Amino acid sequence: MKEKSKIKLIKAREILDSRGNPTVKVYLKTSSEESNFSVPSGVSEGKYEALEIRDKEKRYFGKGVKRAVNNINQIIAPRLKGESVLKQERIDQMLIEIDGTEQKSYLGANAILGVSIAVLKAGAQVKKIPLYKYIAQIFYGKQKTQIKKLPQPSLLLIEGALHGGNNLQIQEFMIIPQIRLFREQLRIGSEIYQTLKLILNEKYGKASTNVGYEGGFAPLLNRAEKALDLISLAIKKAGYLSKIKIALDIAASTFYQKNSYKFEDKIFTGSGLLKYYLNLSKTYPIISLEDPYFEEDWENFSLITQKLKNKITIFGDDLLATNPERIKTASKVGACNGLLLKPDQIGTFSEALTAAKEARKHQWKIMVSHRSGDTCDTFITDFAVGIGADSIKAGAPNRGERVAKYNRLLEIEEELFS
Ligand code: PGA
Ligand code: ZN
Repeated sequence: MKEKSKIKLIKAREILDSRGNPTVKVYLKTSSEESNFSVPSGVSEGKYEALEIRDKEKRYFGKGVKRAVNNINQIIAPRLKGESVLKQERIDQMLIEIDGTEQKSYLGANAILGVSIAVLKAGAQVKKIPLYKYIAQIFYGKQKTQIKKLPQPSLLLIEGALHGGNNLQIQEFMIIPQIRLFREQLRIGSEIYQTLKLILNEKYGKASTNVGYEGGFAPLLNRAEKALDLISLAIKKAGYLSKIKIALDIAASTFYQKNSYKFEDKIFTGSGLLKYYLNLSKTYPIISLEDPYFEEDWENFSLITQKLKNKITIFGDDLLATNPERIKTASKVGACNGLLLKPDQIGTFSEALTAAKEARKHQWKIMVSHRSGDTCDTFITDFAVGIGADSIKAGAPNRGERVAKYNRLLEIEEELFS
């Protein structure tokens, strides 16, 4: 196993992601195995995320990733040659040290994550076990681990803000079916999605069923409550009224301005917005709110968590940036009770695990997440299963790069529970 696990080759290439922007794909070879990983990328990026580097040259309007690719081929590959892919922590530490910056701006978080996950995948292959099992072994620190449950899917129906190209200011309107089997959750979610399509079509015409970055519908609505009413109608018409909870990603950083929030033509203070959220949660079956305030508004995050924590999960995405230190701070001040976990926000597999462990220390929920610019890679599904995440959001039950992740969960469910 020792010889087989040694890295023979690492090579990166610039490819396109689902939004048509360049991203990094890493290929890795040991003497017996081959793996690859394509790095996702967000549009509503938090200020505290590790930095993906882009070329800022004329090609691809500045979005090229040749520099990150060269960093892998010329700096990382020669240093990692001969290292064992089974030594994940050592390799991640080497990557952090070669980079040497706070936010991974020298090599680029896109270069670093690409290599880190390609190494991880090769490790699972050398061990001849499924990726999710390998991740569980590392996460729980033991060879024998039993996966008892799968993450629930948070399925996107309608998108707005930076993702939707409409006037909705809430970024993601999602549903989580409250039943046991994943394949049934996916079926019900898909049926509601298709029912919503018919409703939109009938009410607003065909163009209203065009989709946003993550496969959700992006009708030209301008009020969140309108979107929620349409979703409620679709749930009812599809026949699943008592079986569905609603999850919202507010992504409030996008409408924060000068100590207030400009939302649906009104200026809200933090406490005004809290009242609005309380009302929403009374009217609709809301189970979680992600980023209800902007990424530095610790005070209002704490107030809403205090108020709603027994009823609703408050997930920190931009607030936490999958950063273990920010998670610690958040738990100290009670700023949320859920971690939105995006491995690319922190840049290495090992640090993403540390973030998950830190969240669990405080009994937080964990939702693993894709990015708006993604690929057909399904790593995050195995990751969510391996760490026992409560939920996974991978977009709508529509578009290849989104359903790839849900389809992988169908496979895993069959392997583990049938
Ligand atoms: P992003 O959005 O991938 O565009 O950052 C996803 C999210 O905010 O959860
Ligand atoms: Zn978010």
